[in-house]
This record gives sequence, structure tokens and C-alpha cells, in this order.
Amino acid sequence: MSGREDAGPKPAGRFARVELSLIRQINALATPLSTNLGIGEPNSEPDETLHELARRAATTSWHYSANAGNPSLRKKLAGDPNEVCVTAGTQEALYAIFQAYVDPGDEVLVPDPGFVAYATLAKLCGAEPVPYPLQPPSWDLEADEVLRRITPKTKLIIVNSPSNPLGAVAKREALEAIANAGPLVVSDEVYRQLWYESEPASMRGMSRNVIAIDGMSKSHAMTGLRIGWAIAHPDVLKPVITAHQYIATCASVFSQALAEMILDAKEWNASWLERVRAQFREQREVALHAIEHELDVRLEPPPAAFYAFVPVPSCDTLTFAKTLATDAAVLVIPGAAFGIQGEGFVRISYAAPKEAIGAGIERIGRWLRAAGR
Ligand SMILES: Cc1ncc(COP(=O)(O)O)c(C=O)c1O
Repeated sequence: MSGREDAGPKPAGRFARVELSLIRQINALATPLSTNLGIGEPNSEPDETLHELARRAATTSWHYSANAGNPSLRKKLAGDPNEVCVTAGTQEALYAIFQAYVDPGDEVLVPDPGFVAYATLAKLCGAEPVPYPLQPPSWDLEADEVLRRITPKTKLIIVNSPSNPLGAVAKREALEAIANAGPLVVSDEVYRQLWYESEPASMRGMSRNVIAIDGMSKSHAMTGLRIGWAIAHPDVLKPVITAHQYIATCASVFSQALAEMILDAKEWNASWLERVRAQFREQREVALHAIEHELDVRLEPPPAAFYAFVPVPSCDTLTFAKTLATDAAVLVIPGAAFGIQGEGFVRISYAAPKEAIGAGIERIGRWLRAAGR
């Protein structure tokens, strides 16, 4: 065989700019003894009602639904079914939107630090991700930082409030300014139900340019059921539905039926969300207490999601996180995974049992003290 055949088929050129996510590199170092504070999914389990709804959902039609999703579910999500496309998770909504709107040479404004998928999807479309900075300690979204980066090439602005990896919530005025800036805006609101002080603002309906995306992965601990949606003006949504048709055909009809039953069970749903918030609020307290006492860092409580973005005494946080994974058996995500502004920080997820949060952070503290940091 020639060398060329040994190397196997060459991936498409658009993958050349996509690196193996640093998150995957850290997770690859996990052992059965590791304490995982790197995880991005809720540590809640379905209760008896949710199990019962799932059993009932399994008895409904297994056939394709309309591409955009069952009209009855779309109606419950937005009132007007023409404003909704139900997707295989929020991630698929993002992919479909990028496919529908982003051309090679376009610019996409992405938060820094921000969820890794935004810049990666821009690169996959041959576009340029243009980071706009969020600054510690509040990590406030300053509309000006976004607006002054808009050029004639700006096709899309991504906003993520509440934020992964920051747990920060943007102010309504900032969101309104961005919604009305001109370019199309994607508002990723997948953490919007997980708040601890007051309900975060939604960008939905702030202007005709806004596509709001959300799903049940984080709010209902349904990450594996892949159910999400995009809500926008029907004209804006049209090419997204076309893209979605060729990506997924339709979202799982089982997950759609379950989502609809959850929305119908209003009283149970409200109490479920209350319980989930109470659980994460308690876990946040344990995390902040341990971070203060073990790492000597006093953080303002992040108002939403389940992440703490913690400054660490190390300039190369990738090496730091890898060393912690191997020497202290604790997994955290290096801040650099989320952009240049994330360097000098690690993301600690408190979506873990309280004992694991306490023990994991204590192990980080012990390792730092032993290393004389
Ligand atoms: C900010 C953000 N957006 C979207 C997603 C994707 O979520 P889903 O499971 O709904 O695809 C995640 C998952 O971690 C996320 O953190």
C-alpha cells in the first residue's frame, strides 16, 4: 500500500481549522477514581412523574413528525407554531442556523469566554469567529463591546445568557441594544431556567432579528433525549427549517411527545423546576464555600447555570488542568478552552453531588499547597 492509502481518506478542508476540544482532552484523563467537576450536565435524576410521562410518551406515534416538529408542541412553545422549529437539542438548532445563514468570509461575533461550539461552527462554515470580551469579576455583557465589533461582514451575533462557562446573566438593556443592532442574533438560552436570584431576561421577541434557542437538556436533565427548539419570526426561521430537514428530518417524536407532556403538566413542571433550582443553589453554596476556604478565592455567587469560573495561580491553565487530572484526580476545564479571556481561570461545574464538590475542591487546594502555589 502507498503512504497515501495508509493515511486514509482526507477529511474535508473545513475540518482543518477545528481542533480537538480541550474539554475532550481533559476528559480523556479521567479514571474511575477521578472526581469529575468538569461535567456540563445536571446531576438530577427523573422523578416518578417524569418516568410516568416518559412511559406514556413511548405509546404515542413513532412515525415522522412534520420537519419543524409537531404543531401542537410548537404551539405550546411559542403560541404561533410558525415561529418554532423543534430540533435534536439546542446544539442541532445552532448547527442548522449556521448552515442556514453563515457563508465563507462572514464574521460571527462570539462571547469570550464562551461555549466552544460557537467559534467552531463559524469555522466549519468557513467564517471568522470574532470574539467579544466579557470581563471579570462580574463578566457583565457590555453591549458596546459587541456593537463596536460589527462590520459589513458581520452575519451573526451569538449571545449566551445565562452563560456557559461563567454562570453570568446579561442585563435586559444590553440584550435590547444587541437585538436592535442590525445583524441576526442567536440567543442561546439553554440555561435560562436554572437561576438562583431572579429570572434571566429572554431575547425572544426583542426584535425581528432574534432567534432564541432553548431545550430541555439542562432544565430537565434530559441531555440524552436531544430535544431543543429555535423560536423566531417565520421568515427568519424558514431557511433554518430547511437546514434542519436535511440534518435530522425531525426531532425524535418520543422526545417531542415527552416535552409536550411536560409542558402540559404545569403544576408538576413548576415544582420540578423549583426543586432543581433548590438543588443547584445548595450545590453552589458548597462549591463557593470550598473555593473560598480551600483555594482562597472569594467569588460573587454566579446567578445562574451550574458553573463557577475560578482564577487560578497558573498562567497555563491547560497544563494546570491536565496536572490536576493526573496528580489530584480532579477534572476541571481549563479556561482557555472557552477563549483567550478564559486563560488564568478554570471552570468548576457544581452539577455534582455535594460530597464530590467538597472533596474535589479540597483535593485541588491540597495539591496547590503542596506545589507551593
Ligand atoms: C451554552 C450551551 N449551548 C448549547 C448546549 C447544547 O445543549 P443541548 O443538549 O440542548 O444540545 C450546551 C451544552 O452544554 C451549552 O452549554
